[in-house]
Amino acid sequence: MSAEQQLPGPTTMRSVVQDRYGAAPEDVLRVAERGTPRIGPDEVLVRVHATGVDRGTWHLMAGQPYPVRLAGFGVRRPKLANPGRALAGTVAAVGARVTGFRPGDEVYGIGTATLAEYARAHPAKLAPRPGTVSFAEAAAVPVSGLTALQAVRDHGQVRSGQRVLVIGASGGVGTFAVQLARAAGAEVTAVCSTAKVDLVRALGAHHVIDYTRADIPGGEHRHDVILDIGGNRPLGQLRRALTATGRLVIIGGETGGRWLDGLDRQLRAHLLSPFVGQRLGTFVASENAADLTALRELIEAGELVPSVERTYPLDETAAAVRHLLDGRARGKLVITT
Ligand SMILES: NC(=O)c1ccc[n+]([C@@H]2O[C@H](COP(=O)([O-])OP(=O)(O)OC[C@H]3O[C@@H](n4cnc5c(N)ncnc54)[C@H](OP(=O)(O)O)[C@@H]3O)[C@@H](O)[C@H]2O)c1
Repeated sequence: MSAEQQLPGPTTMRSVVQDRYGAAPEDVLRVAERGTPRIGPDEVLVRVHATGVDRGTWHLMAGQPYPVRLAGFGVRRPKLANPGRALAGTVAAVGARVTGFRPGDEVYGIGTATLAEYARAHPAKLAPRPGTVSFAEAAAVPVSGLTALQAVRDHGQVRSGQRVLVIGASGGVGTFAVQLARAAGAEVTAVCSTAKVDLVRALGAHHVIDYTRADIPGGEHRHDVILDIGGNRPLGQLRRALTATGRLVIIGGETGGRWLDGLDRQLRAHLLSPFVGQRLGTFVASENAADLTALRELIEAGELVPSVERTYPLDETAAAVRHLLDGRARGKLVITT
């Protein structure tokens, strides 16, 4: 007998499904009736109420850059039903060895194939959801908020009084990073496009640079910490915008390259760092319950607000991913089920 258990409740559900990798969401994502996931003894089944969409959703959907396929997601075709990872919902059932959660608990975090009515999750990647915001707002937090928290707190080590430059301030990660850097007491300069200047100002940025009109400053106006979330500026230019002992944290940047998609720049920063006074680095966000709890506390204290532009029903998931790809999203997009 399999260790997986089929639990009480509906045996089928509505789910986004994807049979092959592809770059165009409307070509590869569709909604279909599927069996409700079975969970193992160490897993939790969540009735998903909302799922955040982010750049990673597209990477898993497209299978690009190619190294993501080698990270267990399927080399020739996707292994998982769909590319969703963030979730907010209610625990429907728990595996025999799970002790921390019970059916009925309202949770948020990271799961598997979360663009569906039900999804499996590991308890180590779940936490009670923030009680002061909606499920949709909670679902915006797990991927992007975790990344921003670790960028600001751990890798940028942002301290009060420091000058922090956030490049890519208006997107999923950036809208959290601006608020977290400001909450840490930094003087925040946010970089984004014209249409989103008002958004990042409202999030608390002290200064805003519209990258379509001006580039990032160097010379006299150097920053103690640069969080590079978008834009793919050359390493040399970023270093000239950083103080002599400043920290550069490269979080992402979409080049469209199928093999590396900017990872070469991150690798060069990492290799150069030991030989210069500045700390240059990158990281892959850790998905963990302790940081989900830290984010929940900040949200409940009113220090952090998930910035959700709009929600879409499950049937319009492809339209949401398209909106993000077109660069039109302001903050986060969320799918509700
Ligand atoms: N390291 C990790 O663990 C990790 C985790 C999550 C995400 N990421 C990566 O982080 C990146 C951002 O993810 P996201 O979900 O925040 O994406 P997103 O919501 O699409 O946001 C992208 C941001 O980049 C900005 N941008 C685009 N072109 C720019 C330019 N030329 N100069 C300055 N800013 C520019 C956008 O500004 P406008 O919209 O105003 O143009 C927007 O603020 C992606 O590459 C993603 O893969 C990495």
